[in-house]
Amino acid sequence: MNRWMCMIGTGLLAAAGIAQAQSIGNVEAGRAKAQACIACHGETGAADNPAFPMLAGQHADYLLHALEAYKSGDRQNAIMNGQAAGLSERDMRDLAAFYAAQDPAVQTLERRAANR
Ligand code: HEC
Repeated sequence: MNRWMCMIGTGLLAAAGIAQAQSIGNVEAGRAKAQACIACHGETGAADNPAFPMLAGQHADYLLHALEAYKSGDRQNAIMNGQAAGLSERDMRDLAAFYAAQDPAVQTLERRAANR
């Protein structure tokens, strides 16, 4: 495959990722609903504290699946089972779309070490 085909393919994949985040839920509605999550996950889901997983830039379908699993109890975590209990399917979709649309922060080893 020539280089141009590669570049076009990469661009299409990136566009598909953004389109997928938008189709799973509403980013702006998710931003408002994410107020409840800021204390731990930070403003955009890229908390400095390594105890809280990076949500920013994560795949929307992964985030949705994680929230559904916390809500159903398939995934056990005392904090997140409680957080997900009150979320509707619509809430989970909007939250997943919001976090998927955020820039993933770069976590350097130095930054992680400083936060431990
Ligand atoms: C009191 C702190 C706290 C709050 C508030 C909180 N979380 Fe979490 N969240 C955590 C912790 C700790 C984990 C890691 C749990 C585990 O190991 O399964 C986590 C994990 C997650 C994951 C799974 C990430 C992954 O990589 O698998 C998602 C998605 C998530 N949280 C979304 C949310 C959303 C959406 C909200 C707001 C409605 C929220 N969280 C509120 C502490 C919090």
